[in-house]
Amino acid sequence: MGKPRKRNLAADGESHSQKEKKPPILVQKEKKKGKTDISKILINISIGMCIFSLVWFFYALYMRSALARRAVTLHPSPRVLDANSTTAAVSPERFWGSYRPQVYFGMKTRSPRSVVTGLMWMSQFSPSGINVRHTCEQGDRLRSYGWLMHDGINFGMQQIQDTDFTLTTTFVKRVGGDHGGDWTWRIVGKQHSLASHAPVVSLMFYVAADTQGSLHAHIEDRTRLSHVTGNSKELGDFKITFGKPISGEASANKYASYNYLKTLSPSLDQLTNIVKNSLSHRFVFSSSTSERRPYFAVDTYTPPPQKDNQIQSDFVVHQVTIQVPFQIEVLFESGSFHDRPNQLKGSVLTEELTRLMVSYNERFEKKFRLEAKGFTPAQVGFGKAALSNMLGGMGYFFGQSVVQSNFHEHPIFYPEATLFTAVPSRSFFPRGFLWDEGFHQLLISKWDLHVTHEAVAHWLDLMNVEGWIPREQILGDEALSKVPSEFVVQHTENANPPTFFLVLEELLEQFDAHPDAPQLRDILPFLRRLYPRLQTWFEWYNTTQAGPLPNSYRWRGRDKDTNRFLNPKTLTSGLDDYPRASHPSVDERHVDLHCWMVLVSRTMTHLARLLGEQHEEYGRTYKALSSNSLLSELHWSEQLSAFCDYGNHTPAVSLQPEKVFVPPEQRQYQLPVKRLVRVVRKAPKLQYVNALGYVSLFPFLLHILTPDSQKLEHVLKDVRDPARLWTPYGLRSLSRSDPMYMKRNTEHDAPYWRGSIWININYLALRALHHYSSIEGPYQLKAAELYQELRANVINNIYKQYDESGYIWEQYSDSTGRGQGSHPFTGWSALIVLIMAEEY
Ligand SMILES: *[C@@H]1O[C@H](CO)[C@@H](O)[C@H](O)[C@H]1NC(C)=O
Ligand SMILES: *[C@@H]1O[C@H](CO)[C@@H](O)[C@H](O)[C@H]1NC(C)=O
Repeated sequence: MGKPRKRNLAADGESHSQKEKKPPILVQKEKKKGKTDISKILINISIGMCIFSLVWFFYALYMRSALARRAVTLHPSPRVLDANSTTAAVSPERFWGSYRPQVYFGMKTRSPRSVVTGLMWMSQFSPSGINVRHTCEQGDRLRSYGWLMHDGINFGMQQIQDTDFTLTTTFVKRVGGDHGGDWTWRIVGKQHSLASHAPVVSLMFYVAADTQGSLHAHIEDRTRLSHVTGNSKELGDFKITFGKPISGEASANKYASYNYLKTLSPSLDQLTNIVKNSLSHRFVFSSSTSERRPYFAVDTYTPPPQKDNQIQSDFVVHQVTIQVPFQIEVLFESGSFHDRPNQLKGSVLTEELTRLMVSYNERFEKKFRLEAKGFTPAQVGFGKAALSNMLGGMGYFFGQSVVQSNFHEHPIFYPEATLFTAVPSRSFFPRGFLWDEGFHQLLISKWDLHVTHEAVAHWLDLMNVEGWIPREQILGDEALSKVPSEFVVQHTENANPPTFFLVLEELLEQFDAHPDAPQLRDILPFLRRLYPRLQTWFEWYNTTQAGPLPNSYRWRGRDKDTNRFLNPKTLTSGLDDYPRASHPSVDERHVDLHCWMVLVSRTMTHLARLLGEQHEEYGRTYKALSSNSLLSELHWSEQLSAFCDYGNHTPAVSLQPEKVFVPPEQRQYQLPVKRLVRVVRKAPKLQYVNALGYVSLFPFLLHILTPDSQKLEHVLKDVRDPARLWTPYGLRSLSRSDPMYMKRNTEHDAPYWRGSIWININYLALRALHHYSSIEGPYQLKAAELYQELRANVINNIYKQYDESGYIWEQYSDSTGRGQGSHPFTGWSALIVLIMAEEY
């Protein structure tokens, strides 16, 4: 919608200038009628012109501000989700959850300014000094951490391996009353078998208000915080009790030192700093079995003077210092839960936990059948961990994006919004990403379709009136504190692959096959509410990302600097530094975007028909875009025998140290630091960008090639060729024979999508091989063969790397198979569960 409006503006501008040009002609014709007439006419004309210009000026100003407002005006159709959909009244069993994926362990509710709870910890008497663990940081170098089990609603069990001890952090919920009910945490600390002595650990449990509600600390024996009572609008009255530690199930209390802190915090991203700044070394730990030793503990903290209109909120910390092994429980009890049969602790908790674990295991096997497929218990455990980390990585965020449109000089705030979403990585990317989320929901929808409905709805409710959705969601102070400033602003011209259509298409296919399936009962009303937004979304892509030729498409928002980058990046495509045309221009057309548009128009046709809406135009667009001959005309390079982009391109580029002129008199003092700049040895021209890699595979990945297409034979050959895409660990992103293979983009920018193995695309490749092996065609057998081989390679390697390193990774090395990049990365890499289960 944005584009036609802009065009109107330009068209008006042209007619305006034509009017300005007309008068002189008129004047020449009237010449003979005498001087007075001419001057009268001239005066009238000038007055007319002045008035017209003024009107035009204000109109343009008005249009500009109207267009500017549109960038931050939300889509007018009724929201997919009722405003109350996440409240304790409507959705009590999902109100509390581990919706803070950015911390090692913590819970909050699905409300904008939730009271949050969490855990920090540190080792005492450790030679490496004080290390407070709180937010997930790769720099903490934990041996591993992650959910072993998590059902997305009732319970989760996480294992965290620190240097010489292991913490197991478990939560169990119990619904009751009007405010989301109760929950209990159980933290178990154990010594590593290899550690020489039992370490002493401080656990710091905290409760923090976020501008709403109040907290009261209740102290016993001068230093021990026995419980916190509090009240907030969404939670009513509540009580949090800190149980005394024991050394194990059914054993007596155990020696521990206690400290507490009650203070104020200006925002949640300050909690770690406040705790660190309050630490003092004046306390003494003296259990019966060890000598008296001073240790670090929270002491006093004086908040800085309050700034104007800054709200400070209550923040309470309970510190327990104790030698492993230990077990501690923390109980949250809701004041409105009156007829509680017993307290959820001790043996009651153990029993409930056992019951939940048994039912989780049964449900997992029923859904994914990994045992039946012959996977070992350890591999099944790995599959459970992958799914659990995806579910345990769900977050609930609240805040405002910062956006930049062409009609604003400076970035402005997007409307306040909430977002329920999975995240790619709890340490490195603990926030929502549009293109990742479609992949996340492919897995989640197989476990709990309700979560998928809610996540998709939250995302589409973020759409503005033009049909644009900010692709990276940095909502709230905590999310913002994790993002480098240059990535905060989201540009309203920029797209991202519309991967939600993968999920929608899958749902539609399921619905066609089993219209009466109980889990699909709510799907029609859901799709009906989505539909107006999907229409606008389609139109936004179809107009703003249109390419230079009919039925071609071009990603907007490529890097503009052609001197710095070996190849200017295309972040919007999701494939960041994957090589595209060397000189970004409006003549470009991108094959991956073309294929995404095939998927989108295919799904819209299907959906419109199902809902009884106008489907003819979508059908025509789908038919035109999916035509294999059109695809070949636009994107098939005979030279490469592969699909690729087209644009202003030269392969003759390299990075060289910049030549800087230094005046002779300065030469003796200092040598300037030389940065690398791009050198172009041969001028670019319009041609195919002959890069072979993931982008070339898209017509195959999204099932656009007809099964009898000869192009399919070429694709399968490239896929299986070790000199190109095949490795023993999965398909690499860029052919080993490509000149850009594993090349840095600047001196600081390591290769990203230039060779490494990514699991989302390997998932799509396996899905496509599965597809082509199940329909008749000359390459059916070949596809089946490759499917088996590739599936085994991917599963074996990810599992092996997890076993050895403790993590699932962002990408895998194409030469060694080793995990690399951010970790844990249990976003789309967790699709390994679907690959093991052969659910496509
Ligand atoms: C939630 O909102 C919907 C729509 O506004 C309304 O029909 C429903 O009664 C509300 N539910 C509750 C429990 O307030
Ligand atoms: C998509 O854009 C093309 C080119 O402008 C247009 O012909 C087609 O009708 C559009 N499709 C739909 C469904 O609006």
